Amino acid sequence: MGAAGERIAIYPGSFDPLTNGHVDIITRGARLFDRIVVAFLRNVDKAPLFSVEERVEIARRVFQGRPEVEVDTFDGLLVEYARRRRACAIVRGLRAISDFEYEMQMALMNRRLVSDVETVFMMPAEAYSYVSSRLVKEVFALGGDVSGLVPPVVEERLRQKQGAK
Ligand code: PNS
Repeated sequence: MGAAGERIAIYPGSFDPLTNGHVDIITRGARLFDRIVVAFLRNVDKAPLFSVEERVEIARRVFQGRPEVEVDTFDGLLVEYARRRRACAIVRGLRAISDFEYEMQMALMNRRLVSDVETVFMMPAEAYSYVSSRLVKEVFALGGDVSGLVPPVVEERLRQKQGAK
């Protein structure tokens, strides 16, 4: 438990960019826990579209006025970060069976490393079950409409990125 006896959950990921599927999971998670920390991984190998700073700023804008949703970054092992934050759970979204294998491996590895942080899987609304950051980027880059799949601020930032090219 957190300092004030709060039940804290970590929702980790790269969120490049944040989608409405992520927002849906965060909203669901916020109903189960006192605080949900959206934690952006810093040390990713792949070249992201948005820098961590840009992604954090976007998330802070989306969750402005929602004190139960915190936005943070982390490096290194997720479970070490979860321990430092005194979190009782790691939240992950499961869209389809295809997500399951990778997620199960991570959950079990994380449990082996730190046994008292539980991974909680949540399903997004059906409307977002096919939405991924990768597809959003691809569709947008090829001129497709992504409205309704990402928060308006993400759409705006995607447009700015495209304009800057
Ligand atoms: O949603 P993503 O982008 O696939 O998130 C992956 C993430 C950030 C949850 C995973 O890569 C992670 O936890 N990285 C931190 C390093 C770590 O703890 N690795 C061991 C995982 S079992």
